[in-house]
Amino acid sequence: MADECFGDPRLAALYDPLDPDRSDLDAYLRMAAEFGARRVLDIGCGTGVFALLLADRGIEAVGVEPARASLDVARAKPGAARVRWIDGDATTLPPLRVDLATMTANVAQAIADPDLWHRTLRGARAALRPGGRLVFETRDPARRAWEKWTREESFAGTDVPGVGTVETWHRLSAVDGPLVTFRTTYVFPADGAVLTSDSTLRFRERQEIEADLAGHGYELEEIRDAPDRPGREFVFVARRPDA
Ligand SMILES: C[S@@+](CC[C@H](N)C(=O)[O-])C[C@H]1O[C@@H](n2cnc3c(N)ncnc32)[C@H](O)[C@@H]1O
Repeated sequence: MADECFGDPRLAALYDPLDPDRSDLDAYLRMAAEFGARRVLDIGCGTGVFALLLADRGIEAVGVEPARASLDVARAKPGAARVRWIDGDATTLPPLRVDLATMTANVAQAIADPDLWHRTLRGARAALRPGGRLVFETRDPARRAWEKWTREESFAGTDVPGVGTVETWHRLSAVDGPLVTFRTTYVFPADGAVLTSDSTLRFRERQEIEADLAGHGYELEEIRDAPDRPGREFVFVARRPDA
């Protein structure tokens, strides 16, 4: 079951207006160019922002996303026909041979279930051509990002065209080892509707991901920093070995 923020149509429609600054994707676009990627699979593509940026650059993009409402937002965007959209996740892909697979905006952390995480790594590897790369980010647990997920620190009123000023905030529900659960609340101005979305993220240690990648037959090329969030993220660049 998708978190309500991705799977509820009213909330999925707010995803882009509430977070319009996608400069986090610049580093991924630079990596697609650096690796000469002509075909890219974006796993957990959400509302399709990255897949559409790739298509703008003439790259063949495939976006896979389990939350139907988010994919509906993607499919309705101008130019969406240039992208191949797939309902599902990396465990349900048709045969592909992409140069690059990505998980932007901490998708890896949303895959909290260990079995699903392993099946995702296996599915991504199967979708890559030999020599292709998997690139994804995950928050460094040592930075304890969840400590700022309080109403006081996160409250925002955002003017959304056609909707009005939507108030949002996060509130931490539980920290259970590597699992962090929080609730996001949305207040709509027109009808005063209050919607909530509960999410659980897994904060994985660098060594844990290194071992997971090795276990699935990837060669770890590099762990980079996220230039827009220096010191806060691990950006893994892993390669499917040549056949
Ligand atoms: C924070 S959003 C990021 C969306 C998009 N990558 C972006 O950059 O805007 C996290 C996304 O991960 C998706 N997701 C959750 N579980 C997933 C899974 N098992 N496989 C792929 N995507 C998943 C969610 O539905 C959601 O769209």
